[in-house]
Amino acid sequence: MNAPIVSFTHVGKSFDVDGFELEAIREFNLDIAEGEFVAIVGSSGCGKSTLLRLLVGLDTEFRGQITVDGKAVTGVGGERGIVFQEHRLFPWLTVADNIGLGLVNEPLGAAEKLRRVDSFIELVGLRDFARAYPHQLSGGMAQRVAIARGLVASPRILLLDEPFGALDALTRQQMQDELLAIRDRARITTILVTHDVEEAIFLADRVVVMEPRPGRIKQVVDIALPRPRQRSGFDFHQLREELLHELTGDGHYLPAPAVRIRDLPLSFIAY
Ligand SMILES: Nc1ncnc2c1ncn2[C@@H]1O[C@H](COP(=O)(O)OP(=O)(O)OP(=O)(O)O)[C@@H](O)[C@H]1O
Ligand SMILES: [Mg+2]
Repeated sequence: MNAPIVSFTHVGKSFDVDGFELEAIREFNLDIAEGEFVAIVGSSGCGKSTLLRLLVGLDTEFRGQITVDGKAVTGVGGERGIVFQEHRLFPWLTVADNIGLGLVNEPLGAAEKLRRVDSFIELVGLRDFARAYPHQLSGGMAQRVAIARGLVASPRILLLDEPFGALDALTRQQMQDELLAIRDRARITTILVTHDVEEAIFLADRVVVMEPRPGRIKQVVDIALPRPRQRSGFDFHQLREELLHELTGDGHYLPAPAVRIRDLPLSFIAY
């Protein structure tokens, strides 16, 4: 592998919960190459969202080291975009303004920002809702706004935490296709957390299977299927069985939590 764009070395993370130490992640080691698509699957509570928060720089207290382009992560940066597990839209901003927040730190003129926001509104199919507020959207529409906000600054590294969870099956497949199309144009390095094994196999170059808490890597599975991939092929189903077995075979798997789509109070909003 060329020098990795992202590198986790001996990463560990504990939280203090009511005076007790809760070990969320233990000895996580992973190198990710530029342009690679890595999916992470694992039981609820195994530390997937925590890993993304550490990489995006929202939490800088952890053991070990995380580097991007060889430099230690010490905070948030424009080259890393994240789509959170809950959409975290600002209730008092319109769809367009929520997406525009993804550009606040970009050195672009106002006209160029508007043009970019417009094109992403179009991309996620919300043209008629540009001036709508989050409470006027369905859960899936709100999630699409969050996806547009994560992509609008054209990050080099895109972190997606269950981004398609609230979408119906058809929209979900459309968004997966869109995501691959965007990646083809921009060669974005992508890390996707998902509970959907099929989604992981359809999209990823490698799938990281996590052990239940404390989160450790159980196995890394290469997905060598040629692209574009067919969801119905024999090899696809074989891999699906294999991964499901890895995930659930030991009887410790906790299923996906219900997707919580709501407008969070301000204290939950990270930026
Ligand atoms: N801010 C926090 N304070 C204390 N404990 C936390 C905090 N954030 C996460 N945890 C704990 O760390 C563990 C991992 O949480 P995390 O949200 O990363 O899991 P996850 O793999 O994303 O789960 P899910 O699939 O349900 O989203 C859990 O046991 C959780 O209770
Ligand atoms: Mg999570």
